[in-house]
Amino acid sequence: MCGIVGYIGESQAAPVLLDGLSKLEYRGYDSAGIAVYDGEQIQVQKAVGRLKVLSELTHDGATMPGCSGIGHTRWATHGAPSGANAHPHYNQSETIAVVHNGIIENYLKLRKRLEEKGYQFRSDTDTEVVAHLLDRYYKGDPVEAITKIMHRVEGSYALGIIFKEHPGHIYAVRKDSPLIVGHGKDGNLIASDVPAVLKYTRNVYFIQNEEIAVLTGETIAFYNVDGEEIQKGSTTIDWDINAAEKGGYEHFMLKEMYEQPQTVRDTLSPRIKDGSIVIEELGMDEEEIRGIRKIHIVACGSAYHAGVTAKYVFEGMARIPVEVDLASEFRYRNPILMDDELVIVISQSGETADSLAALREAKRKGVKTLGIVNVVGSSIAREADRVMYTWAGPEIAVATTKAYTAQLIAEYLLAVKFAQARGEVTEAEVEGYLKDLQRLPDQIEMLLSNKERIQHFANRYIAAKDVFFVGRGIDYAISLEGSLKLKEISYIHSEAYAAGELKHGTISLIEEGTLVAAVVTQENLYKKTVSNMVELTSRGAFVLAVTNAGNREIEKAADYVVYIPQTNKYFTNSLAIIPLQLFSYYVAVGKGCDVDKPRNLAKSVTVE
Ligand code: F6R
Repeated sequence: MCGIVGYIGESQAAPVLLDGLSKLEYRGYDSAGIAVYDGEQIQVQKAVGRLKVLSELTHDGATMPGCSGIGHTRWATHGAPSGANAHPHYNQSETIAVVHNGIIENYLKLRKRLEEKGYQFRSDTDTEVVAHLLDRYYKGDPVEAITKIMHRVEGSYALGIIFKEHPGHIYAVRKDSPLIVGHGKDGNLIASDVPAVLKYTRNVYFIQNEEIAVLTGETIAFYNVDGEEIQKGSTTIDWDINAAEKGGYEHFMLKEMYEQPQTVRDTLSPRIKDGSIVIEELGMDEEEIRGIRKIHIVACGSAYHAGVTAKYVFEGMARIPVEVDLASEFRYRNPILMDDELVIVISQSGETADSLAALREAKRKGVKTLGIVNVVGSSIAREADRVMYTWAGPEIAVATTKAYTAQLIAEYLLAVKFAQARGEVTEAEVEGYLKDLQRLPDQIEMLLSNKERIQHFANRYIAAKDVFFVGRGIDYAISLEGSLKLKEISYIHSEAYAAGELKHGTISLIEEGTLVAAVVTQENLYKKTVSNMVELTSRGAFVLAVTNAGNREIEKAADYVVYIPQTNKYFTNSLAIIPLQLFSYYVAVGKGCDVDKPRNLAKSVTVE
């Protein structure tokens, strides 16, 4: 995600900011900027593209005098990557500058109110509302202004702020987006992540939710949301720079798995407002939604697996027919597309060649298109008629985890919206769906906290030759993704099968000890899958079952059981995939594989 750095001290700030930002480059970004107080005013420089462009523009910071400032690398969320949208953002009189990570969920409402009060906006970002809001509430005391905006802003934020009237200070505050303070010898720093400060200090404070930090060159003070000073202890960081980039996790993949509670929340909560689903970017009113006769979902790899889940969810919940296609097949099969149909292209990168070509094919045929995309401003995001972003942030590990689970959330939201518009669900059912959706982040967290058990189990299968994943309905879709995760990072041969299809051939591959992961979360199909499990165990398979809490019956047919918390039958994928991700990860780690960069694979497949 975006990166934040701030510095105040004896040295010139700009070179420190550029250096700090360079340590956050691994997180991915599309533009960068810094703001420095030069003794008279707050100077801002921004550049689209690599940090190198900003360094060249400022002669490695030399052209920006001043010993306090804030910097940012932006990963576009609201508004395309551009100079105007790059941070820092000013208030109107350019006396306050702000950098921000996170998502301000109520920014449209805030922006409208501020515009009515005469504030003029220069960007499309959610961040700019913070700069104007601070301006509105600032009456000489920055901490007071910050606490006021904390009561008004909804969503997640880590903010670095400078006020022209308080040149000897920089300010920071966070909620649900990380931020640390570094206590250095010749100055103090803020950063969104530890690597940015390691060159200057190993002594850091972790700012907790809704805490404010006020830094001078020598001192650091902390305040709570009521503006009362609080005491905090510092921590000595003993990670090396490599470990620090991964936030202390051994691999990016593990870090990204652990980010899922947050990325699911970020994708979900801005679209649930006052108890209903608001997907402004869909650009369709209820009548238009009702007019859609069929949905085509097109994608590759894991995004395709998310699409297979969507088929079950849309058809079951909204009673609308869905066809799911691999993009590489769709583009060449001359698909029959009608005016009253919708093509949804799902892609993390937004650049996958086959998915892009499939989108173009759909557009050529004049059908409505919607992209579910993670990278803002990517080709699919630009070319689709409409785009719904997944707010998973940059994904660095080649094997997708958090982008996939964010895609599922986007699909669930769309499905509930469609079901509601088509009169297929009652208000009470919608209320139940929303409650279950909002519980998912905590439930994912709970599953992640059980990692040792999965790790222990995974260690037994490091030498496995073949692993099978089976399930029915949505459980089959989960199996597809579980199997892909395992094969791509551990190089163990693995296949996913619709459980009922096993005896049509594949069961001949089962030998004594072959591991079969059975996903059993669909209550109406329990008995069917259990009978397949019995067929498997009686042929010597070792069956790992992933099932819902409370389904104790399964223990009679499985050798090992992992329970997932209760949720609606349509949303079980979001939970059942977590132990399967962990399993693949620990098998790959146990085998000594290059987990983040598996052989022969690229993060973004931009060629056919
Ligand atoms: C698997 C994986 C790939 C991608 C696929 C599509 O872990 O990451 O299967 O899902 O290459 O990529 P995007 O979503 O960028 O279109």
